[in-house]
Amino acid sequence: MSAETFDKVKQIKADIEAAQPDSLEALEQFRIKYLGSKNVIKPLFGEIRNIANEQKKEYGQLVNSAKEAAEAKYESLKAGLEAAAEQAAVQDIDLTAPGEPLELGARHPVTITLNRIIRIFERIGFVVADDREIEDDWHNFTAMNTPEDHPARDMQDTFYLRESTELLLRTHTSPVQARVMTRQKPPIRVIAPGRVYRNETISARSHCQFHQVEGLYVDEGVSFADLKQTLLYFAREMFGPDAKIRLRPSYFPFTEPSAEMDVYLGAETEKDYRLTKGTGWLEILGCGMVDPAVLENCGIDSEKYTGFAFGMGIERQALRLFDIGDIRLFFENDVRFLKQFASAL
Ligand code: DAH
Repeated sequence: MSAETFDKVKQIKADIEAAQPDSLEALEQFRIKYLGSKNVIKPLFGEIRNIANEQKKEYGQLVNSAKEAAEAKYESLKAGLEAAAEQAAVQDIDLTAPGEPLELGARHPVTITLNRIIRIFERIGFVVADDREIEDDWHNFTAMNTPEDHPARDMQDTFYLRESTELLLRTHTSPVQARVMTRQKPPIRVIAPGRVYRNETISARSHCQFHQVEGLYVDEGVSFADLKQTLLYFAREMFGPDAKIRLRPSYFPFTEPSAEMDVYLGAETEKDYRLTKGTGWLEILGCGMVDPAVLENCGIDSEKYTGFAFGMGIERQALRLFDIGDIRLFFENDVRFLKQFASAL
């Protein structure tokens, strides 16, 4: 009985030594047979029960040596077979075949418009302040002079985060004003471009996500005349030297006085109801003198400093710049639409 068992092990060991797996597939078969979880060596260890005591040691060593032979063979063949397989794959490559065409991407029209705006303001000394899209209630509303029961909050309903009612998707880029003013002393001259969110029904003119650029200038002696001149400069750089602007009195909680600015786009656009409601004037931003309460909320001495601020919408300007009729196109990711702007800078 035990002689037979010995023979069985010896045979298996001889098989292992004779085996010549010559491909990765054959090697895998070898591994499964001798080293896998149901390998043929495993039951041989159990057989030791039936071996006479004085032969147990010898038997155990024999089975172990079979196992080790399998492991050694596997390890010694593995690297070589893998390298060979790789080389074979390389040889299969047809170097004369034409390459796969690489589609050239294009910048998104909103990005192009944003970049133009940034460059215009950088030329007169504004620096870009980038900040978070998930804001807290204080920066988005309270610091901007819009406390919890303020009616102006109704106009900027947004998406709150489930984790915390304190956190929300910012409704405008204005909280960046508070972010900058609480960490930086005047003079402050920043623009803050970025994405904003509102809980609004999506239509050709409005979307639940869009982009704004915020501007903030705080220093000693900053006046409304500085604001108006800065905005006129911007409009001419953006829409051409003949661009006209008009400021209409308006209301924002964080500025006093406040205004909205329209740009006159020329007589031909008076017919364009979509963009200018038939007037030729396109409303692009809100602005005003920073309310002293906002300065104080952010730790800036409102007796010493004054400032102006503005916040402009990007999509509407992009609609105008590229003669696009519907804001939804910006967010549909249709390549046929997007690739049309490949040559714009
Ligand atoms: N945050 C305002 C909005 O989204 C726009 C705005 C108005 C920004 C006046 C300003 C400002 O900085 O001074 O409707």
